[in-house]
Amino acid sequence: MRIHQIYIQIWTAAFVGCMVLDAAASSGEFARNGAIRENGKLGDHDAADISFLLRQPWNQQSNHRMSYYPAIFIFGDSLSDVGNNNNLVTLAKATRLPYGRDFPGGKPTGRFSNGLIGPDFLGHQSEYIGLPTPPPFLSAGNNILQGVCFASGSAGILNSSGNIYGEHIPLTKQVTYFANVRQELQARLGEEGTKDLLGKSLFYFNFGSNDYVTNYFLTNGRVPSLLQAQYTPSQFQDLLLSNFALRIEELYAMGARKMAIFGLSALGCLPFQRLIRNGSPTTCVESINEIVRSYNVALLNHVHALQAAHPDAVFTYLDSYRLIDSIIRQPSAYGLENVYAGCCGSGRFNGLPTCSVPRSYNVCEDASKYLFWDFVHPTSKIYKLATAKFWTGSYPDAIPYNLRELALAS
Ligand SMILES: *[C@@H]1O[C@H](CO)[C@@H](O)[C@H](O)[C@H]1NC(C)=O
Repeated sequence: MRIHQIYIQIWTAAFVGCMVLDAAASSGEFARNGAIRENGKLGDHDAADISFLLRQPWNQQSNHRMSYYPAIFIFGDSLSDVGNNNNLVTLAKATRLPYGRDFPGGKPTGRFSNGLIGPDFLGHQSEYIGLPTPPPFLSAGNNILQGVCFASGSAGILNSSGNIYGEHIPLTKQVTYFANVRQELQARLGEEGTKDLLGKSLFYFNFGSNDYVTNYFLTNGRVPSLLQAQYTPSQFQDLLLSNFALRIEELYAMGARKMAIFGLSALGCLPFQRLIRNGSPTTCVESINEIVRSYNVALLNHVHALQAAHPDAVFTYLDSYRLIDSIIRQPSAYGLENVYAGCCGSGRFNGLPTCSVPRSYNVCEDASKYLFWDFVHPTSKIYKLATAKFWTGSYPDAIPYNLRELALAS
């Protein structure tokens, strides 16, 4: 039996077992919660909230810490999820230690890393934006005026991506949730106030990893996913990008004007892919990286096309692949000792998704020496590095604007 067949069987068994337990423990509460959220009612309209908005630093030049954006809206997957999946019935959860062990307070919060992640470093933890981390949509309540995080672990551009883990919020649904938030903003700030707020806000997108890792590239033994039979890599790439562009058009129509779009990272270098496709400490799975590079080129073309179609908006492309590739080529330049295995997990390269499953994982002592925290997610240190890079970096890491320039561009 080949390793990936064993893997799929373990995974399936764990998946079914945990789903039953999880669903029994929590479906009632979460189903009710979900139903409340579905109808878009986020809470009472409160006139006091407007004065709260007017006190924000971006409206107050004298404040010592001017914010570059009045609000941040985050669309994405587990790389940006700050707690949405805590409210869903899914295996893709990071609510048990050692997730979060290096987070302030040392507690798991639903972030898929050992500590702070991208949206945190963008927010108040850093000197960058000067805003708090945007709250997860599913538990944001009234707290929406400085932005919201819609990102959800295992989510993709396609609704079906990530289904193997359970519930998630795919891109289409994240856009629907944003429409609900927009209605709420409009009720509080009026249409002009809402347009003004959204026009200056950061819209941040990290999508696509799960459409490949948790959908297109899935195999059952030697049998490739149905999608691989249906679409060539180039057709699948077009399917993803045409859908992605449509969703961005919808957000533009609702008032988004500053959009930062992350390319895919080197997915062939993930411990998970090295494990199931016979990679080694020194070799990534090149066939996968080739598909990712082609996707990124096409994504950049879409970003250019969106820009050409909408001169009153600003679009920028942020190249995660380049940064991760550079880290893998020269680990010591970044203070790293291991760039091929997860700090936490089991199996070769700790490439199995078992981090935090009781009695089934190893965990390294110092995650700051590692590129990867678990089978697919980077360590907090890498998020910090990446945020610094995309805040001030230059071409070709950011094309054409870094996140700081994007705030000032019009
Ligand atoms: C994806 O889900 C949304 C509902 O969230 C639905 O409106 C849409 O039609 C679905 N797309 C596909 C291709 O099934």
